Amino acid sequence: MAGRQWQPPPSRSKSRLFLLLLLSLAAAILILIFSAAPSRTSAFAGGSSSVSYPSAKPETSFLVSLEDFLARHQPSSREDTARATADDAVVARFDESVSKREELKLPEELHYPMALPVRVYVYEMPRKFTYDLLKLFSNTYRDTTNLTSNGSPVHRLIEQHSIDYWLWADLLAPDSERPIRNTVVRVYEQEDADLFYIPFFTTISFFLLEKQQCKALYREVLKWVTDQPAWKRSEGRDHILPVHHPWSFKSVRRYMKKSIWLLPDMDSTGNWYKPGQVYLEKDLILPYVPNVDLCDAECMRESQSKRTTLLFFRGRLKRNAGGKIRAKLVTELTEAKGVVIEEGTAGDSGKAAAQKGMRMSIFCLNPAGDTPSSARLFDAIVSGCIPVIVSDELELPFEGILDYRKIAVFVSSIDALQPGWLLSYLGNVSSAQISKMQDNLVQYSRHFIYSSPAQPLGSEDLTWRMMAGKLVNIKLHTRRSQRVVKESRSICTCDCQRANSTGPPLGNFP
Ligand SMILES: *[C@@H]1O[C@H](CO)[C@@H](O)[C@H](O)[C@H]1NC(C)=O
Ligand SMILES: *[C@@H]1O[C@H](CO)[C@@H](O)[C@H](O)[C@H]1NC(C)=O
Ligand SMILES: *[C@@H]1O[C@H](CO)[C@@H](O)[C@H](O)[C@H]1NC(C)=O
Repeated sequence: MAGRQWQPPPSRSKSRLFLLLLLSLAAAILILIFSAAPSRTSAFAGGSSSVSYPSAKPETSFLVSLEDFLARHQPSSREDTARATADDAVVARFDESVSKREELKLPEELHYPMALPVRVYVYEMPRKFTYDLLKLFSNTYRDTTNLTSNGSPVHRLIEQHSIDYWLWADLLAPDSERPIRNTVVRVYEQEDADLFYIPFFTTISFFLLEKQQCKALYREVLKWVTDQPAWKRSEGRDHILPVHHPWSFKSVRRYMKKSIWLLPDMDSTGNWYKPGQVYLEKDLILPYVPNVDLCDAECMRESQSKRTTLLFFRGRLKRNAGGKIRAKLVTELTEAKGVVIEEGTAGDSGKAAAQKGMRMSIFCLNPAGDTPSSARLFDAIVSGCIPVIVSDELELPFEGILDYRKIAVFVSSIDALQPGWLLSYLGNVSSAQISKMQDNLVQYSRHFIYSSPAQPLGSEDLTWRMMAGKLVNIKLHTRRSQRVVKESRSICTCDCQRANSTGPPLGNFP
């Protein structure tokens, strides 16, 4: 009897087990839901929160990714229409609805105005500014092997500055296919936007359109963008303008100098960008798209014993402007033991030779060329070749998130030009330090890769994290500009200019 009482009926045990199973299933589902997309994503992008990252390897070739993009995307039939220039009432109404949204966000969002994901409104521009230019590139890249003045095929130059494509393609993808949707989401109402993205292809227009036609297109874009109510509200301060080739958009970009420029470097000596048009607090330095393939951890292990060259350089040996240093260095280093210096350009055979040379070397020389930075630096990084940077004016992408001293050697041009100094210096770097930097390069490389889909910790992801850091300042200066008396007080900015010790102090210091 007692035994029977102690023994729970079989049906109950089954139902308990079932209950337990049900509970754990519910818990698992809850965990899944909460670890998936954040609420802001689904609330603002209207996307589903289902997680299904494509399992295929992310595509890093511009040409391949672009073909796939063009095959899958149709130009939107919607276009944002610009409003009449004098219509202050429209701007005022828009500003009012922005204010209303902001008042709601402040109590609701713990981290506002600093929260991730960054909310970006992507302008729907006429296709002649967007798709048609990508199509033009896609249709002509096989024929654009003509050399430019600096010796690189046009399509290679466009590729290495194709950051405008990678950022746009990511923003256009459905959120369910976007591994970086925790960092940035596209919003469809301008009132909700932290930032506005201008999807115009400045570099492609520059290289593939006839000169006058290009200038005319630039002027059209300028008018289209600056007629937008959102532009007028902030004078462009919350607008992102990709001008990654230093020659691109040159005729009109001064009219958009308050917006966030996406740049390859910050050479404000006046050669490429005018002082006062670019500064680190406003703009963003983005890496060039590497010309060579990534040397991953396995490739690094395999290449280890083959790295017999101490210092490698491949490029054009004579450059103008900042290139004087390059010419002197080359003279100084030619014939030295352990040094390989090759004359070469960025054509297809050039790519193979550069990749081979970098993978066989411990250090890669990065002297200033026409501009303080160059694609070569990023080729070296993804090849696992420790960059030796001899470029006093260089600014670097994502600095603050990344510590470049862990992966590169910085040398002043005065030191580097002393006879024998550079090789003595590099010879003094211990093999333990070299291994450590090579390990760091393997870790850091991912930050310099653009891909579709864009990957967490990839270039696109870090771009938006850097942008998030700018938001408070952008909002500050937008609001401030709405109430200060015009021209009453200039804003203190941190300009990237060479200090002039004999001149007045920079900024508003007493
Ligand atoms: C390339 O050069 C050829 C011959 O000089 C010329 O006919 C052709 O138009 C050029 N192509 C481009 C895209 O500039
Ligand atoms: C390299 O080390 C040697 C020996 O310690 C030293 O004399 C030399 O100055 C060092 N070279 C450089 C460039 O620092
Ligand atoms: C430095 O500033 C002084 C005074 O403003 C000016 O006369 C001089 O030309 C400047 N030098 C350089 C190199 O810019």
